[in-house]
Amino acid sequence: MTADVRQLLLSRIRDVSDYPKPGVMFKDITPLLADPAAFTALTGALAGLCAEHGATKVVGLEARGFILAAPVAVRAGLGFIPVRKAGKLPGATLSQAYELEYGTAEVEIHAEDLGRDDRVMVIDDVLATGGTAEASLGLIRRAGAEVAGVAILMELGFLGGRARLGPALDGAPLEAL
Ligand code: PRP
Repeated sequence: MTADVRQLLLSRIRDVSDYPKPGVMFKDITPLLADPAAFTALTGALAGLCAEHGATKVVGLEARGFILAAPVAVRAGLGFIPVRKAGKLPGATLSQAYELEYGTAEVEIHAEDLGRDDRVMVIDDVLATGGTAEASLGLIRRAGAEVAGVAILMELGFLGGRARLGPALDGAPLEAL
């Protein structure tokens, strides 16, 4: 990705202070999604990473990850698979609970969507603590597939997600645009 494209993407991410609660600076991607040049550049860069790392499937993480991963899958000519919050998938699921700052959360995947021949690229908008991505990598491996990598628009480095994700990546790349 060129410096110009990176600058375009950065310019379309809006900082919203004290949202969703006081003291938090929220990174709002809706201006980027509303700009066809920026959204096209982003999905193109992510689709390029899928090709570079030999992905055969794209997994998106609910909810904002879906917005990015679905057009990336189409551009890359790959299938899209959702990792959803617990209770949303109708078929036979694999579930993975993970720790939040306060409490726990749980994500699920349809077990039949992945197989031993698959190499999966996980796509999301933000890597914060890394808990959601870590749980998703666990689901992919339990489904029998290989992890091609994790591709994220924004990494909030001060929250330590890359370090938390390290063991789960097991050598696969973490690409943060
Ligand atoms: C956000 C974001 C990532 C996750 C990152 O999702 O889209 O999926 O948090 O946080 P972590 O690295 O600490 O796990 P969230 O569920 O808050 O909102 P969304 O449903 O709007 O995507």
